[in-house]
Amino acid sequence: MSVFRTKSIEQSIQDTDEPEYQLKKSLSALDLTVFGVGVVIGAGIFTLTGRVAHQMTGPAIVLSFLFAGLGCALAAMCYAEFAASVPVSGSAYTFSYASLGEIFAWIIGWDLILEMFLGASVVAQGWSAYLDVFLGKLGVAIPAAIAYGGVVDLKAIALIAVLGVLVTVGIKESLRVNLVLVGIKLFIVFFVIFAGIGFVNPANYSPFIPDAVATSTTQGLTQPLLQWLTGAAPAAFGWGGVLAGAALVFFAYIGFDVVATTAEEAKNPQRDLPIGIIASLAICTVLYGAVAMVVTGMVPYDKLDPKAALANAFLAHGQGWMATLIAAGAVAGLTTVVLTLMIGATRIIFAMARDNLLPMRLASVHPKFRTPWLITALVTVVCAVTAGFTPVGVLEEMVNIGTLTAFILVSIAVPVLRRKRPDLKRSFKVPASPFVPILAAVICTYLSLNLSIETWLRFLVWLVIGLAVYGLWGYKNSRLATGKPISPDIAEAMATGHAPRDSE
Ligand code: ALA
Repeated sequence: MSVFRTKSIEQSIQDTDEPEYQLKKSLSALDLTVFGVGVVIGAGIFTLTGRVAHQMTGPAIVLSFLFAGLGCALAAMCYAEFAASVPVSGSAYTFSYASLGEIFAWIIGWDLILEMFLGASVVAQGWSAYLDVFLGKLGVAIPAAIAYGGVVDLKAIALIAVLGVLVTVGIKESLRVNLVLVGIKLFIVFFVIFAGIGFVNPANYSPFIPDAVATSTTQGLTQPLLQWLTGAAPAAFGWGGVLAGAALVFFAYIGFDVVATTAEEAKNPQRDLPIGIIASLAICTVLYGAVAMVVTGMVPYDKLDPKAALANAFLAHGQGWMATLIAAGAVAGLTTVVLTLMIGATRIIFAMARDNLLPMRLASVHPKFRTPWLITALVTVVCAVTAGFTPVGVLEEMVNIGTLTAFILVSIAVPVLRRKRPDLKRSFKVPASPFVPILAAVICTYLSLNLSIETWLRFLVWLVIGLAVYGLWGYKNSRLATGKPISPDIAEAMATGHAPRDSE
């Protein structure tokens, strides 16, 4: 038995594509783009922009967005090639099971769990920050202990609990609801750009890249790993700050990979998926750059509010109703991101349990709702505790490092799968392979090295725990190794479309 054993693509398709149940192939490239934009725009632009500009980059945060966007665009092409050549099964976990082998699939799955459940927690906290602003404008004061950043974030816990119940009773992401929420979010983003432009003071752009200074965020374990490795003087701002900022705002792009998971519902996955992935990323990059320029032009970077910068930039100009509107839109828009990430976390755990890389019992299906209630309960409790009690900032970086690692492995997997399965039909091919996939992996690695030492240490602990779980359970018990059949209730729930399928 080898940890590099691969599950054939045909087997992956068979596992997720029960003949009894076929999803309607109804999504166009435009639908996929809307879906992508809906998942991607979230706490990243609404809360992180202010904090990173304030602490790390100054107005040059726009360069951080561009650099992070470049890394994502290259990785996106790799995702697109995978999604277009394995159109029935969606996640990077399945892709890598077919190409790199079980151990890498395990690591990617483990990273994706980190990405999704911590991502949901972070966005829930951002949601809570904007709810504070919104309620504050309505005259409802939130006691400091339970406000965003207080002792316990009760609002974030409540949001996750409610969404957890919805997921358990079997809510599906409805494209129509999603469309409305995406519309609200886009409206708010455009509103910030066009209403804010009139308040821009060009003097705020100078210095555009503030001089590097030593701060508490760049000392000891909180300094970027790269800074420590190269022995550079600890500093925020300057070019080092721009790159460290790119590693942080990378968070704002997370989620475009989820588009790849809708492969089975696309009318013409080979053509539409790459368009959906790349278009949503391009739209977000332009919007992020514009918002970053406007907000840092509205308020001197050292006065930006690190919590709810977009709304508070308007408050700083005495525009109370605009701030209220932005806060309300953010609360509505961020809800769907939390929901999507929570569903994503249950899907990935479900897929791993179905392969018996995690105990299959975990995936057992609720008798009435026909959803994997145990996994959902687990995800809900872990997300709620994390969002309620963990300080922000620590979480985002962990999400980023988990996602970057998954991107690196996916990028490497593209040329590997081309060698292993040259016969697969690929209507979308990454241009200049292996150069572009390698460049994607290099940029993502570089970004990850710009994350703090403590993030790396935490991530290593996460990986070691993951490898221990694999060694103690998955290696011996995986369905690939044992040929164990899928348990009947899981098979039935998949066949009737109740359980999450990684291709859904
Ligand atoms: N990209 C998503 C956000 O910014 C995770 O909230």
